[in-house]
Amino acid sequence: MPKLTVEETGEFEVPAGKRLVNALTDEAKVDQLHACGGNARCTTCRVLFVAGEPDRMTQAEKELLQVRGLTATPGLRLSCQIVCDHDMTVKAISRLAGSGRADAGKRPADDIQPPPVWTDK
Ligand code: FES
Repeated sequence: MPKLTVEETGEFEVPAGKRLVNALTDEAKVDQLHACGGNARCTTCRVLFVAGEPDRMTQAEKELLQVRGLTATPGLRLSCQIVCDHDMTVKAISRLAGSGRADAGKRPADDIQPPPVWTDK
């Protein structure tokens, strides 16, 4: 099982292939935001990679990061568009606490949505 390390939180074994956004919620117990329900529309599921950033990216993630002007920050990625298929270390930088939101967002589906079209980072 891949190991997910969340800085200042801990290390967690995650079922292979699980969406990172759901692993942050379920295994790491982080109050990770996912306002659009994991559909590559909001960017609130963003995390900062410290190690193990995936080389591939969904087309939806790439387009959204570009549209929102978020490509300049190294390691900034959308956790709803990433699967845990190797060890990775992230900082949880977008959390419910302090956000002013009523909740973290609807539970994302088990599979990446929209159906992923993979491209290079
Ligand atoms: S972009 Fe909205 S939850 Fe990922």
